[in-house]
Amino acid sequence: MSDQLKQRIRIPRLRDKITDAATAAKWIKNGTTIGMSGFTRAGDAKVVPLALADRARHEPLKVTLLTGASLGGDAERQLTEAGALVRRMPFQGDPTLRAAINRGEVMYVDQHLSETVEFLRSGQIAPIDVAIVEAVAITETGGIVPTTSVGNSASFAILADKVIVEINLAHSLDLEGVHDIFIPKRRPLREPAPVLKASDRVGMTAIDIPPEKIVAIVITDRSDSTSPNLPPDEETAAIAAHLVKFFMNEVKAGRLSESLMPLQAGIGTIANAVMSGLIDSPFKHLTMYSEVLQDSTFELMDAGKMDFASGSSITLSPRKAADVFSNFTKYKDRLVLRPQEISNYPEIIRRLGIIAVNTALEADIYGNVNSTHVMGSNMMNGIGGSGDFARNAYLSVFATKSVAKGGKISSIVPMVAHCDHASQDVDILVTEIGLADLRGLAPRERAQAIINNCVAEPYRQMLKDYVAEANARGGQTPHVLEKALSWHVRFQQTGSMLPEAEVTTIKVA
Ligand code: COA
Repeated sequence: MSDQLKQRIRIPRLRDKITDAATAAKWIKNGTTIGMSGFTRAGDAKVVPLALADRARHEPLKVTLLTGASLGGDAERQLTEAGALVRRMPFQGDPTLRAAINRGEVMYVDQHLSETVEFLRSGQIAPIDVAIVEAVAITETGGIVPTTSVGNSASFAILADKVIVEINLAHSLDLEGVHDIFIPKRRPLREPAPVLKASDRVGMTAIDIPPEKIVAIVITDRSDSTSPNLPPDEETAAIAAHLVKFFMNEVKAGRLSESLMPLQAGIGTIANAVMSGLIDSPFKHLTMYSEVLQDSTFELMDAGKMDFASGSSITLSPRKAADVFSNFTKYKDRLVLRPQEISNYPEIIRRLGIIAVNTALEADIYGNVNSTHVMGSNMMNGIGGSGDFARNAYLSVFATKSVAKGGKISSIVPMVAHCDHASQDVDILVTEIGLADLRGLAPRERAQAIINNCVAEPYRQMLKDYVAEANARGGQTPHVLEKALSWHVRFQQTGSMLPEAEVTTIKVA
């Protein structure tokens, strides 16, 4: 046994559990519910899921798969193609799985990310049989030290009967100490979660389980999949500039200080670009209390703008991953990774007063937001943590480009075809065209603010016409019901939300 492995598995008797992925996968029987580590591609189990997919190609093997959020590598594609997934929750982002979900083949439960382990803990959903958790090390007392995400791993390991650990040598032992594992007590004995500021540490640095529950240990050496986010473009830079200007006005008005409030940024290209936009802002001593720490977190630290970041995972582009993980000690004392029920805990989000910046697929004239369902029916990724943050934030911002698919889709529509975030949870809507401050506005005023500030022509005029007709019919939130979803219907029928006469007039890049 190498010294390296002794350092990674510090209880000698557990070293007898080392096996290969195929043997470890045999602990999973047909019908098993699996709780697997992994959160937006970070810290996912890398080899046992692939061994499972292999088995499912040759024998009946159908499982329910719970994770923190999306997995990386090829796991979800392979498990889907092998027909192994019957039920999946609470988030995914894989094109093959997405297609199977939208064909109705995989039952997908799209859930607020803070809630999954609450449901498990209280027995409201089927229990976890086996947990598969990627780790940097197993400590002297049997504590599992997670890697680049905590996600739901701690509760999965605590609640499962059996635990399979993947020790990943590609992750540096420097990660040990960055995690803060705090598990809320069961109700009705629950106490307040004692996080009073983003940098507070309130738990343990490893997942505390009886070592006897560990039934297999697999050694791997594969890096996390990197983020597919595109670099900022003209539109995302414009969105960031509008927000920076808005924050500066809030500082001038005395509602925010130059360190703003702790920031949360959603996943994806737009949210990451908005955060990067703060690099050239006048703000300083920023903090994050977020879910996924992306490139922008470390860019802000490098620029001396951000003092501390709390999250549940670290998901980076290839270039940034190489830089951050080879210099991890440079950042370690300014970071903490928490279970996702704590990074997304409504009580803490409300207490800290978070500025939440999430992304919409589409929003409507009253500020209801659809973040998940393309044309109202087809799942994109899932609501993720956006609902946890938007409902409880000090300030809830939603950002989107004003159009998608080269202008054939308007991101601002008369009525969203699916609603994830009700208008009450949306304070600010921002596109590259401008920013609508919706605080304190009634629905008719919200419609004016959104149409005048966030929409490009010719969609702006089309929405003005819609609102005029709706207002004439009356109501607190006026609609012309037979036309409310007509833009979506037109897109499905013609491939564009634009009426024929307008197709050549759209002014977009
Ligand atoms: N209708 C159909 N497709 C649309 C659309 C609309 N109204 N708006 C955007 N799209 C498409 C884009 O064309 C793009 O498609 P492509 O991948 O084929 O190029 C895709 O959606 C992504 O859009 P993009 O503008 O690049 O935004 P993004 O990468 O920032 O992702 C979301 C946007 C909404 C999909 C993503 O943020 C998400 O899944 N959010 C929900 C979960 C969440 O907010 N989690 C964070 C909580 S902490």
